[in-house]
Amino acid sequence: MNNNNFTWGVSSSAYQVEGGWDADGKGPSIWDNFSHVPGNIKNGDTGDVACDSYNKVEEDVYLLRALGVKNYRFSLSWSRIFPSGRNNSINSHGIDYYNRLIDGLVANNITPIVTLYHWDLPQALQDIGGWESSALIDLFDSFADFCFQTFGDRVKFWITFNEPQVIAWAGYGAGTLPPNVNDPGSAPYRVAHILLKAHARVYHTYDDKYRASQGGVIALCPNIDWVEPKTPSDPRDIEAADRYLQFLVGWFTHPIFKNGDYPEVMKWKVGNRSELQNLPSSRLPVFTAEERDYIRGTADVFCFNSYTSKIVTHSTTRLRPFSYEYDQEVSTKVDSSWPSSAITGHRAVAWGLRRLLNWIKEEYGNPPIYIIENGVGIKTKSDVDDNTRILYYKTYIDEALKAYKLDGVNLRGYNAWSFMDSFEWLNGYDPRFGLHQVDFDNPNRPRTPKRSAVYYAEIIRNNGIPLAHLCVSISALLRTEIVFHCVLQGNMFFA
Ligand code: NOJ
Repeated sequence: MNNNNFTWGVSSSAYQVEGGWDADGKGPSIWDNFSHVPGNIKNGDTGDVACDSYNKVEEDVYLLRALGVKNYRFSLSWSRIFPSGRNNSINSHGIDYYNRLIDGLVANNITPIVTLYHWDLPQALQDIGGWESSALIDLFDSFADFCFQTFGDRVKFWITFNEPQVIAWAGYGAGTLPPNVNDPGSAPYRVAHILLKAHARVYHTYDDKYRASQGGVIALCPNIDWVEPKTPSDPRDIEAADRYLQFLVGWFTHPIFKNGDYPEVMKWKVGNRSELQNLPSSRLPVFTAEERDYIRGTADVFCFNSYTSKIVTHSTTRLRPFSYEYDQEVSTKVDSSWPSSAITGHRAVAWGLRRLLNWIKEEYGNPPIYIIENGVGIKTKSDVDDNTRILYYKTYIDEALKAYKLDGVNLRGYNAWSFMDSFEWLNGYDPRFGLHQVDFDNPNRPRTPKRSAVYYAEIIRNNGIPLAHLCVSISALLRTEIVFHCVLQGNMFFA
């Protein structure tokens, strides 16, 4: 295990930071249109200007350099590159922007980790059905192919989809996020089916045309909450916890990392319930043997985002309306003693991350793992003195490193969400996730490092949690000279 290869980074996404929503020929995305409808976003906020990163390549790279990160994870805006979503309209200004960003990163020894799809579908492609249309498989492949060809000489780490479960469920089931399709029983399964095929297609394109010359890795990035069985001595709750994870994560990762097919428990539950609902076939689509072969093995590494944990118990759910949620036959809650945050349902439960990492290790045979997003939202305009965030990072990173060092989890990297305060989707600019504060009232969008940025930079420099830092708190408590002793010991995990 070579500790020096552990990669520390920060993450962002195009719509959340770029702004320049119609600059220089960019086409509209579903998020542009959605945020322009009054009432859709808190306080009437939009991503029109956001952090203005479209005009601030130098500033952003400078801040990343000051943090000392080894990688920066960002996403490409599809409609900035192909305004109509198709490769018959190519916007050279968009390409210039990403080239400048990528060149700036590489020049500063910062590895770009690039997401191809972080929710901002070109509106023109929504107009033909979005991810409900299998035409999107080819169209996404042609976009990805162009990106590999254009940026792949410098980008060696690609992510196809950010949080595919959110795309399928929030976008097409609950209908809370664009394109706001409210069809909880079927559309999410059909959409996920298409997302998996699109992911696999893009993986094979990379494999067939680019891997030999470019030598990168490619994966997708599910969202995962750890779930703890309510009564650990009750096998039904243990099964419920596993079922929850299979519906949330296994939905995508079981086909890719295991056998090309959905988890058995999903096939069984959705199939059985569809029968009870008098449907002619399961609401969960079926892959052909050929498709299973095509999908199996289409990720080089295991990426994921995680923010919180939940408690799960088994539950007898209603048969109608048909719903992906009811299909799981679970109910979830949180422990009220877990610290809450600005995001409903996000509570700080650091030990859940260690358990989650161990679950991935056991479930998928210890693949190389990257934590791509982890962080905490705080509801305040100015939180430069963000001690709560420091505590969140300290405890979460500590648990991640325990999984790595003590449990033998093949963890290769940790990325904090977020590089800077940014557009937090339906919540607008209210909750702040950034290591840097952005002043959204100022047209120049000045960035200011928060205390957490200084702390995270220290973690990166030490390649682990600096022991001195722990001791400063202890010494502050004990009012002793212990701190000087600790400084001499070096850092806790990578000494
Ligand atoms: C995950 C999403 O990928 C990101 O876009 C979002 O801002 C964070 N969760 C925080 O809610």
